[in-house]
This record gives sequence, structure tokens and C-alpha cells, in this order.
Amino acid sequence: MNIVDIIRRKRDKKELSKEEIEYFVYEYTKGNITDYQASALVMAIYLNGMNNREITDLTLAMANSGEILDLSTLSECIVDKHSTGGVGDKVSLILMPLVASLGIIVAKMSGRGLGFTGGTIDKLESIPGYNTGIKIEEFINNIKEIGISLIGQTMNLAPADKKIYALRDTIACTESIPLIASSIMSKKIAAGANKIVLDVTCGSGAFMKDKMQAESLSKMMKQIGKLANKETVCVITNMEEPLGFAVGNNLEVIEAINSLKGNMPNDVREVVLELGAYMYKLANPETNIEENKKLLWENIINGKAYKKFVELVEKQGGDISYLKDTNKFKKAEFVLPVILNKSGYIYQINAEEVGILSCNLGAGRKKKEDKIDESVGIILKNKVGDFINKGDIVAYIHANDMQKGKEAVQKLEQIYKVQDEKIEKPETILEVIL
Ligand code: URA
Repeated sequence: MNIVDIIRRKRDKKELSKEEIEYFVYEYTKGNITDYQASALVMAIYLNGMNNREITDLTLAMANSGEILDLSTLSECIVDKHSTGGVGDKVSLILMPLVASLGIIVAKMSGRGLGFTGGTIDKLESIPGYNTGIKIEEFINNIKEIGISLIGQTMNLAPADKKIYALRDTIACTESIPLIASSIMSKKIAAGANKIVLDVTCGSGAFMKDKMQAESLSKMMKQIGKLANKETVCVITNMEEPLGFAVGNNLEVIEAINSLKGNMPNDVREVVLELGAYMYKLANPETNIEENKKLLWENIINGKAYKKFVELVEKQGGDISYLKDTNKFKKAEFVLPVILNKSGYIYQINAEEVGILSCNLGAGRKKKEDKIDESVGIILKNKVGDFINKGDIVAYIHANDMQKGKEAVQKLEQIYKVQDEKIEKPETILEVIL
């Protein structure tokens, strides 16, 4: 078999066989296919798509590129969650300890930032000392001892996804149903959970720009879940404007910590409770979604979810003094206000544009090997539906480069769109696909 022939076939819109897909995945993982050849094939998949059989074969080959964990000895029910990505999406940092605080075993492998979206692993690493790259034995041990572990892809779990994911990030191949479905589901299959809740984001700040695309991606991932014998629920959530107020690594971690302490933005709360309620129901099928939400919120208010997060961070080597005093997180050198020169109701804050702005400040990567700047980002003061007066500060840019900071201020002034007519707050939860 030959990679050039495989690239040519996909370039010419032909269907790839299972053997061709496996050859690509295994040989690229081993380093026998170059990044430029893999880029060509990934771009051809992006442009010409894959049918359901090809997507399933790609997912299974990626999952089988490393170890597949069997966690069945730990519990009959291990629930995982994954988001298809967004701007300001710090949900996993809040949700996973919250669900674990209710006694549900949480074993999660997260990703880094992709394109204009942030990644849970980059955010967790903002906490000094937090080790996202622990060994499999430690991952299992942490789950046994405290009921939760959150890790990155440094272990031998779906290593093909780790390589393809990083490649896609730098060749503009993120927004693709075959590539997203295989990336997410290969990780979920490898990490050993048997129940999965997927947050399928939809809107400008997501890879799926409209609801129809989000539904297609959801159905694809559910189908793969079924094949792998993993009960999967998809919740389609609104990502038209950034989630919460903070965008950028340290800033989002601080918002997540404050949320765990009870100060949670409304939209974040809606997503956390909806996903959490379904996770809880997957573990306890006899329960009721609305009751589950109450149960979850109780554990925010009584501090149990925050306590579980402290336990998690401590167990994985993180400095918990940062959780107790978030002022310890490194601050950007310049904090510049964004002032709007008009009054009215905000009707749009394009999340993709905010995400790109944050990446340009240094919060994301342009090349695979780039180091991110944890301290930069954006704090929004207002959200869609709010009324603002001319001269109000609507956001703050956190920058370490004055020139980039000033450019970001000008751009964000344009991103905020205002009108005279009152506008309703948008729905956060768009659909649940059971
Ligand atoms: N999250 C992933 O793990 N992979 C994607 O492709 C998108 C979001």
C-alpha cells in the first residue's frame, strides 16, 4: 500500500477502504508518513468528506492506534463528557468535579486548543504543577482513590488523534464532521468510559455553524457510540456568542473556580446543569432531569463540587493555593478597556471573531509547536440582550503586547453589534438528542 495512492484516491473523491484507512492511521502514528503527506490527505478528507462506513473505520483505527482502557473493574458505570469546542468553554472544569462530587466516576481525556477554540488541557495546565500527562496506572489509581481524573493525550491513548488533531489545527482543517466525529469518539472509546454525554456546540464560535450540521454530527457520533457499545447523549448548545464572560486560559480557569464557588454566569450554569443532569441520568436511569439539576446545584452551593476540584488538582500535582486565591494567577501586563461609542441593545458578539482575537493575543497556537500565553485574553462585561449606554466599558483586553492589545480593542469595538430595538436573551440549550 502506498500513501500517495491513498491521497490521490481521496483527492479524486473515491471511497477509501478499511485497509487504506488503517494503513494511513498506523503508519502516520509510527512516523512513517510525513506531516506534509498527512496534511494532504486530511485536507482531501476535509474537502471531499467521508461516508459513514469510512468515518467509523477511521474512528476505530484511531482508537486502536494505542491502548484501550478497560475500567469495568472500577465501576459498572463510568461517564465521560466531551465538547465539540467553543469560545469561553470552561464547562469541563466545572462539570466534571461537580458530577464526581455526586459519586459518579469520572475518567476524562481532554484536548488542547483547536483553531479559534480553547482546550481544557491548556486551561488545566494554567494551574502551576497540574500534570495532564500522568501514566495510565496513576490515572486509574486517581479514579480509584478520589473518583476523578482529568488528563491529556500524553498517554498511549488514541495517539493517532493526538497527531492528527495537532496537524488539523495548523492547516485549517478543523470544521469537518468526519474529522471531528473520529477525533472525539476515538478518544472516548480509548479512555474506557461506557456512557458519554456530548456537548455539540452550534453557532459562530463552534465548528458547526448551524443546527442542521450540529444534528448531523450528533447523529454520526451517536451511531459510532452505539457500535462501540457506549450509550451516548448529545446536547446541542448555543455558541453564537462566547460562553460566560472570560476567554483565554488563566481568565477562564479563574471563571471556572469562581463558578465552583457559586458565582456562575447564567449561560455556563445552564450548560453545566443540562449536561450534568444527563450524565447523572445515564448513571442512574430511574432519575429525573429537573430533579438532577437541583441535586447538582446543591453541590455547588454546599461547596462539595469545589472541594472535589481541589482534590483533583492536588492529586495531579497542582498548586491548590491558586484555587484559594485566584489573584495568584499570572496577569497580563496591559489591561485595556473597550468602550462603545453607541447606546442600545447588544444583538451580536460573534464568538468566532472573539476566539480569533484571543488567539492573536497569544492564547492559541499558530504552529503545532507554539507555546501559548496563559495570561492573555478577554473579559466581556456584557452579553447579547444587555442594554449599554454610550461610553460604557463593555470588555477588557488582557495583553502582553501593547500594539496587539490596541488592535484587539479596536476589533472588539466592531465585534459588539448594537441596535435600538430590545432583544431577548438567546436560548442556551437548543436540542437534546437521546
Ligand atoms: N474536540 C476534539 O477532541 N476533536 C475535535 O475535532 C473537535 C473538538
